[in-house]
Amino acid sequence: MSLTGLFLIMFLAVHLAGNLQLILPDEGKSFNLYAHNMANNPLIQVVSKGNFFFILLHVVVSILLTRKNTAARPIGYAASKSASKATWASRNMGVLGTLVLVFIVLHLKGFWFELKYGTTPMVDYDGETIKNAFLIVKEAYQNPLYVLFYVISMALVGFHLSHGFQSAFQTLGLNHVKYTPIIKFLGLAFSIVVPVLFALIPIVMYLQNS
Ligand code: HEM
Repeated sequence: MSLTGLFLIMFLAVHLAGNLQLILPDEGKSFNLYAHNMANNPLIQVVSKGNFFFILLHVVVSILLTRKNTAARPIGYAASKSASKATWASRNMGVLGTLVLVFIVLHLKGFWFELKYGTTPMVDYDGETIKNAFLIVKEAYQNPLYVLFYVISMALVGFHLSHGFQSAFQTLGLNHVKYTPIIKFLGLAFSIVVPVLFALIPIVMYLQNS
């Protein structure tokens, strides 16, 4: 869980950096050129396959672990879960993860599948004609309900990350009096900053075009 989770955390950071180009005031030129380069880079294509593989693996392992835990303790704890010191996110990782998965499936259907197999409009930059990926995203974010769906989903991603980030280090045995508080702080900062920046993209694009 931790290794696949850490890979996906790195993916999120890179994905965010690329996506922030969507809100540059250049009508999508930087983003389109970036998306075009990514789609034509063989190394990135391998990483992309890795992404899908790691998402699946993360889900499959989580299901197997939950089954194993339930089998090991068929009768629940005597003390109520909410009375324990565990955070709300840590107690609800299964539900949060499932909702994030629903988001990912709808997200891939809306953007990734559309760009790869749909009829994406083309755009010309200095004599080179490439897919206008920006337009697909811009059109999707004209719908306020779609924007709301993204904002809520980013909150779920944030809660899922808030436990996942530090838990990954703990599972790997990277526990240290001095470094654990730093990791916890970085985890909390990452799980707030990254989803907030992701959520700003649909909001800004909606406002830019309304
Ligand atoms: C505002 C937020 C986001 C925007 C605008 C966005 C945009 C996009 C776009 C345009 C693509 C297609 C890229 C291409 O095939 O060229 C894509 C792919 C993808 N997105 Fe997002 N994304 C966002 C947030 C997220 C989040 C939060 C996650 C995960 C929790 C995610 C997971 C993915 C994955 C797994 C792919 C497929 C990447 C691949 O081909 O390897 N995205 N996204």
